Amino acid sequence: MADLSIDFAGIKSPNPFWLASAPPTNSGEQVMRAFDAGWGGAVWKTLGQPIVNVSSRLGSVDLADRRMMGLNNIELITDRSLAVNLKEIAEVKRRYPEHAVIVSLMFDTREEWRDILKRCEDTGCDGVELNFGCPHGMCERGMGSAVGQEPKVLKRLVSWVKEDTRLPVIVKLTPNVSEILEPGMAAKEGGATAVSLINTIKSIVGVDLDSLSPLPSVAGSSSHGGYCGPAVKPIALRMVAELARARDFGLPISGIGGIGNWRDAAEFLALGAKSVQVCTAVMHYGYRIVEDMIEGLSEFLDEKGMRSVDELVGLAVPHFKEWGELDLNYHVVAKIDTESCIGCLRCHVSCWDGAHQCIHLPGQDPIEGHRAPMAEEAKRIAAQRQQKIDAGDTTLEPFRVPWVDETECVGCNLCWLVCPVEGCISMVEQRRAPEVDTWDTRVREGRDFVPGGLDELR
Ligand SMILES: Cc1cc2nc3c(=O)[nH]c(=O)nc-3n(C[C@H](O)[C@H](O)[C@H](O)COP(=O)(O)O)c2cc1C
Ligand code: SF4
Ligand code: SF4
Repeated sequence: MADLSIDFAGIKSPNPFWLASAPPTNSGEQVMRAFDAGWGGAVWKTLGQPIVNVSSRLGSVDLADRRMMGLNNIELITDRSLAVNLKEIAEVKRRYPEHAVIVSLMFDTREEWRDILKRCEDTGCDGVELNFGCPHGMCERGMGSAVGQEPKVLKRLVSWVKEDTRLPVIVKLTPNVSEILEPGMAAKEGGATAVSLINTIKSIVGVDLDSLSPLPSVAGSSSHGGYCGPAVKPIALRMVAELARARDFGLPISGIGGIGNWRDAAEFLALGAKSVQVCTAVMHYGYRIVEDMIEGLSEFLDEKGMRSVDELVGLAVPHFKEWGELDLNYHVVAKIDTESCIGCLRCHVSCWDGAHQCIHLPGQDPIEGHRAPMAEEAKRIAAQRQQKIDAGDTTLEPFRVPWVDETECVGCNLCWLVCPVEGCISMVEQRRAPEVDTWDTRVREGRDFVPGGLDELR
């Protein structure tokens, strides 16, 4: 069995699955239940000076029958007293010495930082996470994402914290920036031990069209909030990978954003995260989801012959390239399996209106000027089927399988993505030429033209 334990910047954890700082880590009672369920670590709900929360505070985007594809919140940091939180943190660490207990912090003045760091050390916690990511409420007071968006301020604050504590310092970054490397490098220059990302994305989740209140509504009004959940995973993955591949960066990364199962986690690990944190999926389904995450990741590592989580970390990073480095001679075309096709024609509609007009109806001829051997093949199958029906075969319906004009297919994947029958459309490799050709090579060699494109316009 693969070893799931990790050492994240000196913080040891029985597995890479941590709870992110949020409602699931509000109290000692919750964190202990989570550890019993199998979570390897927890980042405590952010501590700071007392605040008052609003009601309501959550809104979501549903997708068909899937609820909470995206979750939006206008909640602030902890609304429990510092003394109570710190007492519970110490108690949890005492009872669960093998688990990672990290305290999320958001303070204003240097004195406040100095004081809280000392008090955190006294709890025996394993590290602190600096919340420079919250995009609502606290940033208007000069904290949260207001710091994460100002690399110079971020660097200064990290260096204060580093001077005042011996604990590992994780800097939690905001995605509400255009270049994640800038705050990432500022954190490193300030002396951070590690970073975590992403915090939530600044957003308005919707509008109640009767009351005209943006959501979630607080007495008929709202404010922008922070977006998270499955919908944000692609943004988080990109930002994690951006830092992981930056040559000068090199700090351990804790990946956060839309993780809900072992596959999501494995993708973050492969793109360079050394631990992962989860919030929305636990708010939706409860702590128990970690059981499947542990089992799934463990089986996956075994299957791939990897003995530890560390062996997976960063394996996909070399494959994350710039567009100009991609092979232009690699080409795929869509193939339809006539046996499993149910004739819904979604692929035809999508290809005609949203792609390159090369999936045709069974009896349809190719577009004038196109060469299309499959047209004849489709006609032959349709005629054969019709003959059987005419001869009295009641088990058959007329042939409704569309056909792909492969000579025109650009291999965009759209039909494959919309087809409701798994495995019915496959994208099959048909290289344009055996050698690799990239845009960068073309530019270097002065071949940077697009036939019929920009060059003709010049
Ligand atoms: C209701 C709610 C409260 C949150 N509170 C905090 C917080 O106090 N501190 C913090 O660093 N992040 C907070 N977050 C952000 C999460 O820790 C996490 O970064 C984000 O939700 C993305 O992960 P997810 O997609 O798994 O939810 C909160 C998120 C939600 C939904
Ligand atoms: S891959 Fe794109 S272009 Fe090719 S058939 Fe499908 S939708 Fe059309
Ligand atoms: S979308 Fe899939 S099932 Fe529907 S017609 Fe196209 S290939 Fe057949």
